[in-house]
Amino acid sequence: MAENPSIETSEEEPLVRFRLKNPGKLNAITQGMAEELITLLSKYGRDPRYRAILMGGSGGNYSSGADITAFSDKGPEEALRFHQVLNEVVRSIRSCPKPVIAVLEGYSLGGGLEIAESADIRIASESARIGQPEINIGINAGAGGNVVLPDLVGRGMAMYLILTGRKISGPEAMRIGLVDLVFPADSVWKEAEKIAQEIASKPPATVQAAKSLVNRSRDMSLDSALESEASAFSMLFATQETRERIGKFLNREKT
Ligand code: COA
Repeated sequence: MAENPSIETSEEEPLVRFRLKNPGKLNAITQGMAEELITLLSKYGRDPRYRAILMGGSGGNYSSGADITAFSDKGPEEALRFHQVLNEVVRSIRSCPKPVIAVLEGYSLGGGLEIAESADIRIASESARIGQPEINIGINAGAGGNVVLPDLVGRGMAMYLILTGRKISGPEAMRIGLVDLVFPADSVWKEAEKIAQEIASKPPATVQAAKSLVNRSRDMSLDSALESEASAFSMLFATQETRERIGKFLNREKT
């Protein structure tokens, strides 16, 4: 019997792993799965025991994109609703106080890739097949696939990927800035976890401030963005952890 599409979570403080799971469909994303992701991001975003979120897929693939089998009986209104839920996933990733690290292995396509484009760091396997193939079925990319992708790879390269629907490898995706790091397939999760652990060892308020500043600066004037940076800098001076870390550094202790 086919299992229901879902998201497997595994907690290992201070990390939590989300794995998209839609057996037999290469982890295609359903509306229910997207809603579940929003709930999980909110839950783990608030829980102080967890300091970084890893988001990938189960069974060696990240995701084949939106579940096309659910498209056949969708009209324009339902299509709009589905897209809006994916948009909410994007907002939830960006507003989550914890860093979200996407792990792209195997097929990493369409809506799956597009929500990962809003993650804080993208780590791919060498053998990943990465792309936005929506054009082949006559729909446009969603969840920021036309909006966020150009920020990562530039307008021309974004057009090339969107208009051809081609799939590229992990190293090629890193060369154009679509992913940030690449590792062999058999170690990609382990390496991603090492990076997440390292981030989790940093002061959470500072991590949160950095994420928020980087994500918000794009929509602000340079002046406002610089002022926000200064406010965060000042706010962090009021935290005990920052004071302790500065003191430790000055006493030649390890921070
Ligand atoms: N939605 C629903 N089912 C999907 C799917 C998707 N996005 N992608 C793959 N599947 C299903 C296939 O229908 C197939 O099911 P079946 O075994 O019942 O026939 C199964 O997953 C395996 O896919 P298959 O095409 O046989 O594997 P492949 O290795 O030859 O090709 C892909 C893999 C991902 C290249 C190919 O399935 C594909 O192009 N999928 C669509 C990708 C896409 O357009 N994504 C954006 C959606 S908006």
